[in-house]
Amino acid sequence: MATAKHSSAAATAPATPGADTAKYQQLEAFLTGLKVDGADLAGRRAVLIPALHRAQEIFSYLPTEVQKFIAAHLNLHVSEVNGVVSFYHYFKTKMSGKHTIEFCLGTACYVRGAAKLIEKAESMLKAKLGETTTDGLFTLGSLRCVGACSLAPVVQIDGKTYGRVTAEQIPAILAEYQK
Ligand code: FES
Repeated sequence: MATAKHSSAAATAPATPGADTAKYQQLEAFLTGLKVDGADLAGRRAVLIPALHRAQEIFSYLPTEVQKFIAAHLNLHVSEVNGVVSFYHYFKTKMSGKHTIEFCLGTACYVRGAAKLIEKAESMLKAKLGETTTDGLFTLGSLRCVGACSLAPVVQIDGKTYGRVTAEQIPAILAEYQK
C-alpha cells in the first residue's frame, strides 16, 4: 500500500525553530504510520477523524495550521477537514483553559436561570462563553441537556456536575478551581 501523496510543502514539519516543531513531527509520524493509499479517497477520508483526534491529543486543539497540515498529508481539501472539525463538538479550534466550565442551555436549565449563572461567571472571569480567561485557567462553554433536568440549572466543570446552582454559588464553585 502506498502512503498518501503529500500535496504541498505544508505537509512537512516546519523548519522554523518554533515551539511546535516537535509536535508537528509527532503528528507527521502518526500520519505517515497510517499508510493510506494515496489513490483511495474513501480510505483517506476514513482516517481523517482518527488523525484529528491524534492531532488534538498532541496540540490540545486544532488551529488552522494543523488542519492544513493534515489536509496536505491526506491529500484532502482543507475545507473538508474544517467541515469535520466544525461538525463535531469534541474538536476544539481554540486553546482551552486548564478547566472547562460548561453551562447547560437545555430547556429546563434555561427556564431555571442558566442565563443568570452565565452572566455571573462571565462578569467574574471577564470572559464570554466560548472564550478562555486571560490567565488560561478557565474556558467557558455551553452544553445541550445533559440528562439531569431534575437538578436544573446544571453546570459542569471538567465533567463534574453541579446541580440546582444559583448565581450566588458561582464564586464558591469557581474558587474550588482557583486554589
Ligand atoms: S436541560 Fe439541563 S440537564 Fe436537562
